Amino acid sequence: QRITISYFAISGLDVLDRLDLLEGRRQEIVDWLFLSLICPGEGEEVSQEILQLCGFRGSPALKLSPFNLPSHSHDHGHITMTYTALASLIILGDDLSRIDRGALLAGVRALQLPDGSFRAALEGGENDMRFLYCAAAICRILGCWDGMDRAAALEFILASISYEGGIGQGPGQESHGGTTYCGVAALSMMGLLEELGEGRREALVRWCVARQGGEESSGQCAGFQGRPNKPEDTCYSFWVGATLALLGRLGHICPEASRQFVLGTQDPVTGGLAKWPDTQCDPLHTYLGLSGLAIAGEEGLSPVEPALNITVRA
Ligand code: FPP
Repeated sequence: QRITISYFAISGLDVLDRLDLLEGRRQEIVDWLFLSLICPGEGEEVSQEILQLCGFRGSPALKLSPFNLPSHSHDHGHITMTYTALASLIILGDDLSRIDRGALLAGVRALQLPDGSFRAALEGGENDMRFLYCAAAICRILGCWDGMDRAAALEFILASISYEGGIGQGPGQESHGGTTYCGVAALSMMGLLEELGEGRREALVRWCVARQGGEESSGQCAGFQGRPNKPEDTCYSFWVGATLALLGRLGHICPEASRQFVLGTQDPVTGGLAKWPDTQCDPLHTYLGLSGLAIAGEEGLSPVEPALNITVRA
């Protein structure tokens, strides 16, 4: 997962408007990211089986040969790594010209199941809303939707809306802030947000707004939780905040209370953010906390595009 962890760091610096700290090292980081790319070289003919394995692996540690194609029988792209590697590359100003877009899209398309969901890798594993989101983000970045059957993906998202109004990992599953974001952001990138219709859209907004904690009677709000009866957590300021931003309803929440919660999780020594106050900080919560603050309009942070989760500048 080093590719995704490095995305939190690279995009985090961009949100802080401090990419200058990487000056002189950008090319080295870009080259390091490309070490994890599985993709045919220019003019190289490969079989359909190999094309389906194209994408970014999680780390160059898994690359056991100097070539760009799979280097052992468990070597293949992972859809989250492909999304976060592409995001990092465009943040760093790479023009993606070294990438065979057709091969990457074939690798994504091979991961869609007949129910419209996606799995992370061809070798097997879970299939759910997280990986459908990653597929949509890759298609959006590459500017081509050959990587997915959008009608099937739409059906999967709509079938995953629970009785609560939010979206789960799949049909019949509990609504969750993370998966609600994935479903709504995917619809937005696919240009299909309107398919929600007014009733489902209003129920989604109501479910998201109810994720902000605090006592209604006292009028005091707090941070965001991911689902009912669970504690607040820094990352939901992004997952839920970005969902409301995509639905045009950020104005329905109390941004200052969420801000206070997120800042209250910052480690005074390392500067990182944690999921809760007085707990260990980590790159995911640091990045999502920053990105959530940027979406809420925090002064001094670069504006973030809520669907791709990178700065508008990138
Ligand atoms: C916590 O579950 C789960 C998370 C913090 C992850 C949620 C995020 C997603 C599903 C989106 C992932 C997106 C991509 C692009 C891969 P928990 O049960 O420990 O936490 P809870 O108690 O807060 O629900």
